[in-house]
Amino acid sequence: MNEEMARYFTRPDLKAAKKRGKQEVSVLQFEHIPEEMRGIGDGKRYMIKTYGCQMNVHDSETIAGILELMGYEATDSEEEASVILLNTCAIRENAEDKVFGEIGRLKTLKTEKPELVLGMCGCMSQEEGVVNRILTKHQHVDLIFGTHNIHRLPHLLKEALMSKEMVVEVWSKEGDIVENLPKAREDGLKAWVNIMYGCDKFCTYCIVPYTRGKERSRRPEDVLAEIRDLARKGYQEVTLLGQNVNAYGKDFTDREYRFGDLMDDVRKIGIPRVRFTTSHPRDFDDHLIDVLAKKGNLVEHIHLPVQSGNDRILKIMARKHTREHYLELVRKIKEAIPDVVLTTDIIVGYPGETEEQFQDTLSLMREVEYDSAFTFIYSPREGTPAARMKDDVPMEVKKERLHRLNRLQEEISRRKNEALRGEVVEVLVEGESKKNPDILSGRTRTNKLVNFRGPKHLVGRFARVRIDEPRTWTLKGEWVEDSPMDQVGS
Ligand code: 5AD
Ligand code: SF4
Repeated sequence: MNEEMARYFTRPDLKAAKKRGKQEVSVLQFEHIPEEMRGIGDGKRYMIKTYGCQMNVHDSETIAGILELMGYEATDSEEEASVILLNTCAIRENAEDKVFGEIGRLKTLKTEKPELVLGMCGCMSQEEGVVNRILTKHQHVDLIFGTHNIHRLPHLLKEALMSKEMVVEVWSKEGDIVENLPKAREDGLKAWVNIMYGCDKFCTYCIVPYTRGKERSRRPEDVLAEIRDLARKGYQEVTLLGQNVNAYGKDFTDREYRFGDLMDDVRKIGIPRVRFTTSHPRDFDDHLIDVLAKKGNLVEHIHLPVQSGNDRILKIMARKHTREHYLELVRKIKEAIPDVVLTTDIIVGYPGETEEQFQDTLSLMREVEYDSAFTFIYSPREGTPAARMKDDVPMEVKKERLHRLNRLQEEISRRKNEALRGEVVEVLVEGESKKNPDILSGRTRTNKLVNFRGPKHLVGRFARVRIDEPRTWTLKGEWVEDSPMDQVGS
């Protein structure tokens, strides 16, 4: 690659990203914006387009926080923006296709407005193939940075503003923890809180361990202080984030403190609702189940990806759990929390998946009775072990399996929601319904969307709603007036 094409140049290296050494995690502090970059965005606007998971959504809040410290203000208009950043997702090919489409489309704007800084960050930046393609085919991009160096944005933006060449800085390291990062949170009611970063599971299909580095946990003091601060600011709900939250604390060398301990401490904080995502069945221990069963602000919803119901496929996926282990875990969870809502992720059409093996996934779905499921067709990711396996299930078969799986889930979801008919549920009212401004919408503790007619002053508060029209994906209900719960958290 020609050095002149890019000024700052550390390109991604998947081999280096795969390494897991013994080195301790460093906890760095985000200090301040360098003198020369303060106020650089005064009177200017930024726009961040976020793709993918909640981790990315929250990273965008950090990026926004940094930009705002530099004086930039948010905008929804591309024409108004001086900085446009695409915070990208690499999990499946279609996610990447969308981003490349967007980069191509933004070329016109960049040509009309050369002073615009067009940048890409997030998981796609961590991929060698993607960065090479941008360097060769999309020279109108000004800046590429990765998931490990978000805190470097002020320096990188300065370079991008000064330089005519593309600025590329992507670190393929195991990763540090950076505390004290500013956050411009999108929502005043619900907040994301990182508890850990990275993943060491290396499921054979998954790019995340390469793009996000090794598993590393934030110190409990930092997590708890952040949640207490959010509670003081009036937030009603937090979602604890990690690629594999159940591995929380495994990396601490100076203490025995795991995810169950963290949840037990979070339970004592005065914030009405606490969620977490995502769980891996392998590290889900009995202590955590006991803590979750205490309920209070710990809601009865667990997202528990299974990926497949067949042991042979689970083995090829290197999932490190069997069907039996998973079902036993589900049994224990349901015993401890009888009203728990379980949701999952499933991949169909894995290399070599037979009809019988797929049938095992259907039967597991029937057995567990998830309230909902995210279902995906397997998508080979360059650099992962599965990408070297023969992707031998024809696309039509994959699509047909996905269709059958979705029909079954629909049937179960409908049945589950039907069971709520006539029940009164607690709803955190988020705002007006997207389709009809006369209707309010919010979520139950189990994260189900509820639409109901009610006064606008309920927005931001808890309301009791009687479900009178359950549907497959949403619930319609009637507000139960004069309920003491209106006051919860206010
Ligand atoms: N192809 C299809 N689905 C994938 N997922 C992760 N990697 C792939 C892939 N290569 C799914 C898994 C995971 C969810 C976030 O995305 O189901 O749990
Ligand atoms: Fe990917 Fe598996 Fe890690 Fe989840 S647990 S992020 S699927 S490697």
